[in-house]
Amino acid sequence: MKIKASCLFLLALLATTCDSSGFDHFWLVQVWPSGYCLQANCPQTSDRFIIHGLWAVNVVDKTLPGTAGKGDPSIRPSIKPLRKDLMCYWLPLNENNLSRAENFWIYQWKKHGSAAKEFIQPRDYFQMALQLAKDTDLRNTLQNHGAVPILPDGGSYNKRDYKAAIKNKTGHDPLLKCVKGDDGISHLKEVIICVDDQAQSFIQCAKQKDRCYSDIMFDVPPRTN
Ligand SMILES: *[C@@H]1O[C@H](CO)[C@@H](O)[C@H](O)[C@H]1NC(C)=O
Ligand SMILES: *[C@@H]1O[C@H](CO)[C@@H](O)[C@H](O)[C@H]1NC(C)=O
Repeated sequence: MKIKASCLFLLALLATTCDSSGFDHFWLVQVWPSGYCLQANCPQTSDRFIIHGLWAVNVVDKTLPGTAGKGDPSIRPSIKPLRKDLMCYWLPLNENNLSRAENFWIYQWKKHGSAAKEFIQPRDYFQMALQLAKDTDLRNTLQNHGAVPILPDGGSYNKRDYKAAIKNKTGHDPLLKCVKGDDGISHLKEVIICVDDQAQSFIQCAKQKDRCYSDIMFDVPPRTN
């Protein structure tokens, strides 16, 4: 604890990167497809928030590189029973051939999950990410848990209102990321929520700057059949 505390202190004091090394907790990163896809090529899309990943980070919220070796065939059986839910909540937006969806989830484990492999097994990793996405229920939370309803109607809402609604649900401030559109305004792209090392409870993130202006557009979702 002493090391962590002094590291945070140094970080605040010097605004420098402090290697406070090992795994500490996770980032649950969820994207709003209509915003995210302003910048990314998205053959897939959705009218709900989609998990980008559950990323292992250290105590100062720096993402950690994964450790699993190439291939890692042990993961496929963990994914198989969850496929239906994964397709709904963790849809690979950038993949045009969904028979290759598994590759994206395996990549997420290898790149971002395996750094925490002493704390969590792949099966739990995927299951917990799905559960957390359901629990945060972001679209509904933004609509119903704030002082004003925040709806994906192409309108702009105050950053504080987004954060307050989510905090009302999780107990802690989220981090927000935006895309600056050709129109020069912030569009909601990503919501980051910090969770503990078991991916079970919401926790406070280290202080980080949001990459959003104070007004954030909540773009309309795509039409679905
Ligand atoms: C989609 O991917 C699968 C598995 O890699 C492959 O067998 C299939 O031919 C691909 N389909 C298209 C339309 O590319
Ligand atoms: C928190 O959300 C509840 C609905 O679950 C709502 O009744 C309450 O007004 C909200 N509180 C604030 C401060 O917005």
